Amino acid sequence: MNWWQKYKLRKLLKRVDSGPIVFLTGAGISAESGIKTFRDSDGLWQNEKIEEVCRPEGFKKDPLKVLNFYNDRRKDVLEAIPNLAHYLISELQAQEKEVYIITQNIDNLHEIAGGKNIFHIHGDLFKDKCNNCKKVVYNENNIELPNKCSDCGAENQMRPDVVFFKETPYLMQEAEALARNAKIFIVIGTSGQVYPAAGLIKLAARCDALVIEINPNPSGNKYIDFVIKEKASKGLLALVELLLKS
Ligand code: OAD
Repeated sequence: MNWWQKYKLRKLLKRVDSGPIVFLTGAGISAESGIKTFRDSDGLWQNEKIEEVCRPEGFKKDPLKVLNFYNDRRKDVLEAIPNLAHYLISELQAQEKEVYIITQNIDNLHEIAGGKNIFHIHGDLFKDKCNNCKKVVYNENNIELPNKCSDCGAENQMRPDVVFFKETPYLMQEAEALARNAKIFIVIGTSGQVYPAAGLIKLAARCDALVIEINPNPSGNKYIDFVIKEKASKGLLALVELLLKS
Protein backbone atom coordinates (compact mmCIF):
# COMPACT_ATOMS: atom_id res chain seq x y z
CA MET A 1 0.00 0.00 0.00
CA ASN A 2 1.60 3.31 -1.11
CA TRP A 3 1.51 6.60 0.80
CA TRP A 4 -1.52 7.90 -1.15
CA GLN A 5 -3.55 4.76 -0.38
CA LYS A 6 -2.50 4.99 3.28
CA TYR A 7 -3.59 8.65 3.33
CA LYS A 8 -7.01 7.75 1.85
CA LEU A 9 -7.49 4.83 4.24
CA ARG A 10 -6.47 6.95 7.22
CA LYS A 11 -9.13 9.53 6.25
CA LEU A 12 -11.76 6.79 5.96
CA LEU A 13 -10.82 5.35 9.36
CA LYS A 14 -10.99 8.80 10.99
CA ARG A 15 -14.65 9.08 9.93
CA VAL A 16 -15.61 5.78 11.60
CA ASP A 17 -17.18 5.92 15.07
CA SER A 18 -15.56 3.65 17.62
CA GLY A 19 -17.20 0.25 17.81
CA PRO A 20 -16.78 -3.43 16.93
CA ILE A 21 -14.15 -4.48 14.41
CA VAL A 22 -15.22 -7.72 12.71
CA PHE A 23 -13.03 -9.92 10.52
CA LEU A 24 -14.34 -12.36 7.91
CA THR A 25 -11.48 -14.67 7.02
CA GLY A 26 -11.16 -17.27 4.30
CA ALA A 27 -8.58 -19.79 3.12
CA GLY A 28 -6.25 -17.02 1.91
CA ILE A 29 -5.32 -15.99 5.46
CA SER A 30 -3.83 -19.46 5.97
CA ALA A 31 -2.09 -19.54 2.56
CA GLU A 32 1.14 -18.09 4.00
CA SER A 33 1.09 -20.93 6.53
CA GLY A 34 1.30 -23.36 3.61
CA ILE A 35 -2.37 -24.38 3.70
CA LYS A 36 -3.93 -24.77 0.24
CA THR A 37 -6.85 -22.56 -0.71
CA PHE A 38 -9.79 -23.93 -2.73
CA ARG A 39 -10.06 -21.86 -5.90
CA ASP A 40 -6.53 -20.64 -6.59
CA SER A 41 -4.72 -22.29 -9.50
CA ASP A 42 -3.21 -24.92 -7.16
CA GLY A 43 -6.33 -25.04 -4.97
CA LEU A 44 -8.08 -28.04 -3.46
CA TRP A 45 -11.01 -27.82 -5.89
CA GLN A 46 -8.63 -28.22 -8.81
CA ASN A 47 -7.88 -31.79 -7.77
CA GLU A 48 -11.00 -32.95 -5.94
CA LYS A 49 -14.66 -32.98 -6.98
CA ILE A 50 -16.76 -31.03 -4.45
CA GLU A 51 -19.66 -33.48 -4.94
CA GLU A 52 -17.38 -36.37 -3.94
CA VAL A 53 -15.77 -34.91 -0.79
CA CYS A 54 -17.90 -31.99 0.38
CA ARG A 55 -21.54 -32.98 0.00
CA PRO A 56 -23.74 -35.23 2.19
CA GLU A 57 -24.38 -37.58 -0.75
CA GLY A 58 -20.63 -37.94 -1.28
CA PHE A 59 -20.19 -39.08 2.31
CA LYS A 60 -23.06 -41.54 1.90
CA LYS A 61 -21.63 -42.93 -1.33
CA ASP A 62 -17.96 -43.22 -0.34
CA PRO A 63 -17.31 -42.30 3.31
CA LEU A 64 -13.68 -43.47 3.11
CA LYS A 65 -12.89 -40.97 0.32
CA VAL A 66 -14.38 -38.14 2.39
CA LEU A 67 -12.61 -39.23 5.59
CA ASN A 68 -9.28 -39.48 3.76
CA PHE A 69 -9.74 -36.01 2.18
CA TYR A 70 -10.23 -34.41 5.59
CA ASN A 71 -7.59 -36.63 7.28
CA ASP A 72 -5.10 -35.20 4.76
CA ARG A 73 -6.24 -31.64 5.49
CA ARG A 74 -5.99 -32.23 9.24
CA LYS A 75 -2.45 -33.54 8.76
CA ASP A 76 -1.53 -30.40 6.76
CA VAL A 77 -2.88 -28.14 9.51
CA LEU A 78 -1.07 -30.08 12.25
CA GLU A 79 2.17 -29.52 10.31
CA ALA A 80 1.46 -25.78 9.83
CA ILE A 81 2.00 -22.79 12.09
CA PRO A 82 0.02 -19.54 12.14
CA ASN A 83 1.47 -16.72 10.04
CA LEU A 84 1.87 -13.02 10.86
CA ALA A 85 -1.70 -12.28 9.76
CA HIS A 86 -3.17 -14.60 12.39
CA TYR A 87 -0.94 -13.05 15.06
CA LEU A 88 -1.77 -9.47 14.00
CA ILE A 89 -5.49 -10.12 14.53
CA SER A 90 -4.74 -11.61 17.95
CA GLU A 91 -2.60 -8.56 18.78
CA LEU A 92 -5.45 -6.24 17.76
CA GLN A 93 -7.76 -8.27 20.00
CA ALA A 94 -5.33 -7.80 22.86
CA GLN A 95 -5.34 -4.02 22.38
CA GLU A 96 -8.96 -3.34 21.39
CA LYS A 97 -11.95 -4.61 23.33
CA GLU A 98 -14.41 -5.44 20.57
CA VAL A 99 -12.66 -7.44 17.85
CA TYR A 100 -14.37 -10.57 16.47
CA ILE A 101 -13.36 -13.24 13.95
CA ILE A 102 -15.89 -14.90 11.69
CA THR A 103 -13.99 -17.56 9.81
CA GLN A 104 -14.91 -19.85 6.93
CA ASN A 105 -11.76 -21.82 7.70
CA ILE A 106 -11.87 -25.19 9.44
CA ASP A 107 -8.23 -24.95 10.55
CA ASN A 108 -7.30 -23.90 14.08
CA LEU A 109 -4.59 -21.37 13.21
CA HIS A 110 -6.55 -18.40 14.60
CA GLU A 111 -6.78 -20.29 17.92
CA ILE A 112 -3.10 -21.28 17.96
CA ALA A 113 -2.17 -17.64 17.31
CA GLY A 114 -4.08 -16.69 20.48
CA GLY A 115 -7.24 -15.50 18.72
CA LYS A 116 -10.46 -15.12 20.71
CA ASN A 117 -14.13 -14.55 19.83
CA ILE A 118 -13.80 -16.92 16.85
CA PHE A 119 -16.91 -18.07 14.98
CA HIS A 120 -16.27 -21.12 12.76
CA ILE A 121 -19.25 -20.91 10.41
CA HIS A 122 -17.99 -23.82 8.24
CA GLY A 123 -17.08 -26.06 11.15
CA ASP A 124 -13.88 -27.31 12.71
CA LEU A 125 -11.45 -29.96 11.42
CA PHE A 126 -10.62 -30.95 15.01
CA LYS A 127 -14.14 -32.02 15.92
CA ASP A 128 -15.87 -35.22 14.78
CA LYS A 129 -19.63 -35.52 14.41
CA CYS A 130 -21.82 -38.62 14.28
CA ASN A 131 -23.92 -38.41 11.09
CA ASN A 132 -26.64 -40.32 12.93
CA CYS A 133 -27.11 -38.69 16.35
CA LYS A 134 -25.07 -35.48 15.58
CA LYS A 135 -22.99 -35.85 18.76
CA VAL A 136 -19.71 -33.91 18.43
CA VAL A 137 -16.39 -34.95 20.00
CA TYR A 138 -12.96 -33.29 19.90
CA ASN A 139 -10.44 -35.32 17.93
CA GLU A 140 -7.03 -34.38 16.52
CA ASN A 141 -6.48 -37.80 14.97
CA ASN A 142 -7.61 -39.40 11.73
CA ILE A 143 -11.14 -40.75 11.45
CA GLU A 144 -10.78 -44.33 10.23
CA LEU A 145 -13.18 -47.04 9.10
CA PRO A 146 -14.67 -48.96 10.82
CA ASN A 147 -15.78 -46.57 13.52
CA LYS A 148 -18.58 -46.48 16.04
CA CYS A 149 -20.33 -43.52 17.66
CA SER A 150 -19.56 -43.50 21.40
CA ASP A 151 -23.04 -42.15 22.03
CA CYS A 152 -25.56 -43.89 19.81
CA GLY A 153 -23.38 -46.82 18.69
CA ALA A 154 -24.03 -46.15 14.99
CA GLU A 155 -21.35 -47.75 12.83
CA ASN A 156 -19.24 -45.87 10.26
CA GLN A 157 -21.20 -42.65 10.76
CA MET A 158 -18.37 -40.54 12.21
CA ARG A 159 -17.34 -37.61 9.96
CA PRO A 160 -15.44 -34.36 10.46
CA ASP A 161 -17.64 -31.66 12.00
CA VAL A 162 -17.29 -29.50 8.90
CA VAL A 163 -20.15 -27.99 6.91
CA PHE A 164 -20.69 -29.69 3.56
CA PHE A 165 -22.30 -27.88 0.63
CA LYS A 166 -26.12 -27.97 0.92
CA GLU A 167 -25.78 -28.06 4.72
CA THR A 168 -26.59 -25.13 6.99
CA PRO A 169 -23.52 -23.22 8.18
CA TYR A 170 -23.00 -22.86 11.93
CA LEU A 171 -23.41 -19.71 14.05
CA MET A 172 -24.94 -17.66 11.22
CA GLN A 173 -27.29 -15.77 13.57
CA GLU A 174 -24.33 -14.68 15.65
CA ALA A 175 -22.30 -13.87 12.53
CA GLU A 176 -25.14 -11.77 11.07
CA ALA A 177 -25.50 -9.86 14.35
CA LEU A 178 -21.76 -9.13 14.29
CA ALA A 179 -21.95 -7.94 10.66
CA ARG A 180 -24.91 -5.66 11.50
CA ASN A 181 -23.10 -4.06 14.44
CA ALA A 182 -19.64 -3.83 12.92
CA LYS A 183 -18.13 -0.36 12.50
CA ILE A 184 -15.25 -1.82 10.47
CA PHE A 185 -15.68 -5.13 8.59
CA ILE A 186 -12.38 -6.55 7.35
CA VAL A 187 -12.54 -9.29 4.68
CA ILE A 188 -9.30 -11.25 4.34
CA GLY A 189 -8.42 -14.07 1.95
CA THR A 190 -11.80 -15.05 0.58
CA SER A 191 -13.02 -15.22 -3.00
CA GLY A 192 -16.49 -14.37 -1.66
CA GLN A 193 -18.14 -17.05 -3.77
CA VAL A 194 -19.82 -19.13 -1.06
CA TYR A 195 -23.12 -18.05 0.49
CA PRO A 196 -24.45 -17.31 3.02
CA ALA A 197 -20.91 -16.50 4.29
CA ALA A 198 -20.25 -14.00 1.50
CA GLY A 199 -23.62 -12.34 2.19
CA LEU A 200 -22.16 -11.04 5.45
CA ILE A 201 -20.14 -8.53 3.39
CA LYS A 202 -23.28 -6.94 1.92
CA LEU A 203 -25.01 -7.04 5.31
CA ALA A 204 -22.14 -5.18 7.00
CA ALA A 205 -22.06 -2.59 4.20
CA ARG A 206 -25.84 -2.11 4.33
CA CYS A 207 -25.49 -1.46 8.08
CA ASP A 208 -22.94 1.30 7.48
CA ALA A 209 -19.74 -0.54 8.31
CA LEU A 210 -16.54 0.55 6.58
CA VAL A 211 -15.76 -2.61 4.56
CA ILE A 212 -12.07 -3.26 3.82
CA GLU A 213 -10.70 -6.20 1.79
CA ILE A 214 -7.18 -7.60 1.97
CA ASN A 215 -6.48 -9.90 -0.96
CA PRO A 216 -3.69 -10.05 -3.58
CA ASN A 217 -6.42 -10.97 -6.07
CA PRO A 218 -9.38 -8.81 -4.97
CA SER A 219 -12.84 -10.44 -5.10
CA GLY A 220 -14.46 -7.49 -6.88
CA ASN A 221 -17.33 -7.56 -4.36
CA LYS A 222 -19.21 -4.26 -4.93
CA TYR A 223 -19.92 -3.78 -1.22
CA ILE A 224 -16.24 -3.34 -0.39
CA ASP A 225 -15.22 0.29 0.29
CA PHE A 226 -11.43 -0.05 0.25
CA VAL A 227 -9.15 -2.75 -1.18
CA ILE A 228 -5.64 -3.49 0.04
CA LYS A 229 -4.19 -5.53 -2.84
CA GLU A 230 -1.66 -7.41 -0.76
CA LYS A 231 -1.15 -10.80 0.86
CA ALA A 232 -2.77 -11.11 4.30
CA SER A 233 0.35 -10.52 6.40
CA LYS A 234 1.62 -7.48 4.53
CA GLY A 235 -1.82 -5.92 4.11
CA LEU A 236 -2.80 -6.49 7.71
CA LEU A 237 0.50 -5.09 9.02
CA ALA A 238 -0.27 -1.76 7.31
CA LEU A 239 -3.93 -1.79 8.36
CA VAL A 240 -3.37 -2.73 12.02
CA GLU A 241 -0.78 0.07 12.30
CA LEU A 242 -3.39 2.57 11.09
CA LEU A 243 -6.14 1.07 13.27
CA LEU A 244 -4.05 1.31 16.43
CA LYS A 245 -3.11 4.89 15.57
CA SER A 246 -6.66 6.06 14.79
P1 OAD B 1 -11.09 -19.61 -1.96
O1 OAD B 1 -10.04 -20.61 -2.33
O2 OAD B 1 -12.38 -19.57 -2.71
O3 OAD B 1 -10.47 -18.14 -2.06
C1 OAD B 1 -9.22 -17.91 -1.45
C2 OAD B 1 -8.94 -16.42 -1.57
O4 OAD B 1 -7.72 -16.15 -0.89
C3 OAD B 1 -8.78 -15.95 -3.01
O5 OAD B 1 -9.54 -14.78 -3.21
C4 OAD B 1 -7.27 -15.64 -3.12
O6 OAD B 1 -7.03 -14.54 -3.99
C5 OAD B 1 -6.95 -15.27 -1.69
N1 OAD B 1 -5.55 -15.45 -1.30
C6 OAD B 1 -4.68 -16.36 -1.76
N2 OAD B 1 -3.48 -16.21 -1.13
C7 OAD B 1 -3.64 -15.18 -0.23
C8 OAD B 1 -2.80 -14.54 0.73
N3 OAD B 1 -1.52 -14.93 0.91
N4 OAD B 1 -3.32 -13.53 1.47
C9 OAD B 1 -4.60 -13.13 1.30
N5 OAD B 1 -5.46 -13.70 0.41
C10 OAD B 1 -4.97 -14.70 -0.34
O7 OAD B 1 -11.36 -19.82 -0.39
P2 OAD B 1 -12.56 -19.25 0.46
O8 OAD B 1 -13.07 -17.97 -0.10
O9 OAD B 1 -12.17 -19.29 1.88
O10 OAD B 1 -16.35 -24.09 2.08
O11 OAD B 1 -13.68 -20.39 0.20
C11 OAD B 1 -14.92 -20.27 0.89
C12 OAD B 1 -15.44 -21.66 1.11
O12 OAD B 1 -15.44 -22.41 -0.13
C13 OAD B 1 -14.61 -22.49 2.06
O13 OAD B 1 -14.90 -22.24 3.41
C14 OAD B 1 -15.00 -23.90 1.65
C15 OAD B 1 -14.91 -23.73 0.13
O14 OAD B 1 -15.63 -24.69 -0.55
C16 OAD B 1 -16.76 -25.38 2.26
O15 OAD B 1 -16.01 -26.33 2.14
C17 OAD B 1 -18.20 -25.52 2.67
